[in-house]
Amino acid sequence: MNRKGFIFDLDGVIVDTAKYHFLAWRKLANGIGIDFTEVQNEQLKGVSRVRSLEKILGWGNKTISGKQFAELMTKKNDDYLRYIDQMGQDEILPDVSRVLDLLITKNQPISLGSASKNARIILEKVALRDKFDAIVDGNDVSNAKPDPEVFLRAAESLHMKPNECIVFEDSVAGVEAANRANMISIGIGDAVVLSHADYNFKDFKEMSAQFIEQLINKK
Ligand code: BG6
Ligand code: MG
Repeated sequence: MNRKGFIFDLDGVIVDTAKYHFLAWRKLANGIGIDFTEVQNEQLKGVSRVRSLEKILGWGNKTISGKQFAELMTKKNDDYLRYIDQMGQDEILPDVSRVLDLLITKNQPISLGSASKNARIILEKVALRDKFDAIVDGNDVSNAKPDPEVFLRAAESLHMKPNECIVFEDSVAGVEAANRANMISIGIGDAVVLSHADYNFKDFKEMSAQFIEQLINKK
């Protein structure tokens, strides 16, 4: 039986947490006198927590001490976790469960490959933890996307070679990371934004069982 390594990004692919990141970052930015819009939030997709705060401070032309930086990071995450705490299975994006279950039925190894340090908590909250053979997240890597480290680690955890892996991603940085890892990249979301992906889908509702079968059997 053919096997491929299937690697899923979390935020924006499995659950729509961008709205909670937005609320927490906006509160933080406004609190230090910086405007923060949804357009800016788009630019933080797939970007690590540290880098996100650096970008916000840059947009506001603000310099702060290392101590303050650390305090703001903690504050942002505390706020974010308050939203996460309310999450349930109804927040799983459409047809994600169908695709995961199909892959499991077909005996395909599945890993998470996320920049988030909250990935495990979120998977528990939406009761998807058991569907994954491996989890690689922001706690396990030192180089953020677009560096391919997170996906290379995920491939290793699944005992698959990079060119045997397929990555589902909603961010430009994530698609680039998958391409740099020599994996098949599947953009989930806006095909124009994710034009560097090997394949594009608006969401998992558009992804047929036949397409997944083709991926599994691809030489
Ligand atoms: C990514 C999100 O998945 O994780 C980013 O797209 C986020 O918006 C990053 O900043 C880090 O997440 P966390 O949960 O560790 O702050
Ligand atoms: Mg994402």
